[in-house]
Amino acid sequence: MADATPTTTSTRTDPTRPRVHPTHSALVGLTSLGVLLQALWAALFMRGDYDTWAPVHQHGGEATVLLAFLATVAAFVWLRHRVAVLVGTALLFVLLLVNMLLGMDGGDAAVIIHIPLAMLIMGLAVWLPTQARR
Ligand code: HEM
Repeated sequence: MADATPTTTSTRTDPTRPRVHPTHSALVGLTSLGVLLQALWAALFMRGDYDTWAPVHQHGGEATVLLAFLATVAAFVWLRHRVAVLVGTALLFVLLLVNMLLGMDGGDAAVIIHIPLAMLIMGLAVWLPTQARR
């Protein structure tokens, strides 16, 4: 009688291939926190104290982009075989970079794109760890 047990090992069940890497998870988590804090700094400078909180928002943006870049490097080093995770992490970095440049542009049109794009980035930052654990 034929054995019904599958003989091939998929990427998901291969114990030698890490599904997540702690450095990548930590960097994606810190990037998500950075995006959340950007909304807080923006709320504070839009309430009036622009001179204090706009520079915090600017440097927070730079730090968040750097974290996303490091997460992309981590994905490339440890999770290269997880194509969706690698592409998602790289997309997170690219969208954050574009959003930072739009913020620096400061024009009305740029800011109109800047805020919804930040929401989209947050969605991606939530999707990414979920995808990494699948
Ligand atoms: C919900 C989230 C966010 C909101 C509501 C928001 C809002 C804003 C607004 C209204 C401005 C224009 C300020 C001005 O007129 O001078 C701005 C600028 C800026 N934003 Fe954001 N932003 C958000 C997220 C982000 C993120 C994720 C980044 C980084 C990737 C970022 C980086 C910047 C930078 C670098 C500036 C220029 C700051 C300056 O020139 O002083 N922002 N943001």
